[in-house]
Amino acid sequence: MTTTELPPWEGPKDDWSKAPLTTPTWTPHVEALEERERRGKYQRPVPAVPIPGRLFDKRDYRCVEEFKFSRVWSMPSADTFSVPPVGVMVMRYLRASKVSCDPFARNNRWATHSNDLNPATKADHHMDAEDFLRMLADQGVRCDLAILDPPYSPRQISECYKAAGVTCGMRETQNAALYSRVKSALVGVLTEDAIVLSFGWNSSGMGIKHGFEQIEIMLVCHGGAHNDTICVAERRSL
Ligand SMILES: C[S@@+](CC[C@H](N)C(=O)[O-])C[C@H]1O[C@@H](n2cnc3c(N)ncnc32)[C@H](O)[C@@H]1O
Repeated sequence: MTTTELPPWEGPKDDWSKAPLTTPTWTPHVEALEERERRGKYQRPVPAVPIPGRLFDKRDYRCVEEFKFSRVWSMPSADTFSVPPVGVMVMRYLRASKVSCDPFARNNRWATHSNDLNPATKADHHMDAEDFLRMLADQGVRCDLAILDPPYSPRQISECYKAAGVTCGMRETQNAALYSRVKSALVGVLTEDAIVLSFGWNSSGMGIKHGFEQIEIMLVCHGGAHNDTICVAERRSL
């Protein structure tokens, strides 16, 4: 990998007073963009926390990319991608992808490689998500897009296992444990600049821990006391 080091940021840490709060249009930092295109490493890209709508390079506070944030309303469904705005978002990223995987696909076969624990679903494979991803890695498959739409809670996990005829105890139904082992296995099948789409009740996604930065968040409000479906797109770049 070619790494072109831009001069490090020498200003005070987290001094957001220097950030261009009222950037009227997107003004990309040419060097930073070129560096990205060459797959050079950013020292620390800054997520768009203080100023929604933009991603900034911490070294010079130049805007390098637009961060997409949206909130929409739609009826809920257990088939996540049949919720219109969610399906549109997934399709938007799938169209730009060459090889994709979906370890929790249920009956959805949009990705190149689909899997679901439940043998009654239409997915290509019926394995535990982690085993499926390790199998793809062993076969040398590299995906530029991955879709993570696991059960959202311990209760949903236990319902899924029951429906799949798999006996499970307390350990198997911990969603944090499931997400953690699947995310670790996923890294092994991704290209260097892969995008991961995560769906659930939190916006953690793959996170900085796995070398990802967020590029889009969409909240899908379902009204009443329903939890939102939180849709996160992240790019592998750190
Ligand atoms: C939220 S649903 C996916 C919905 C799908 N994205 C859609 O739009 O229809 C989660 C799926 O994960 C499957 N699942 C649960 N635990 C799993 C595991 N450990 N490995 C693989 N699949 C699992 C369930 O059977 C369920 O179909």
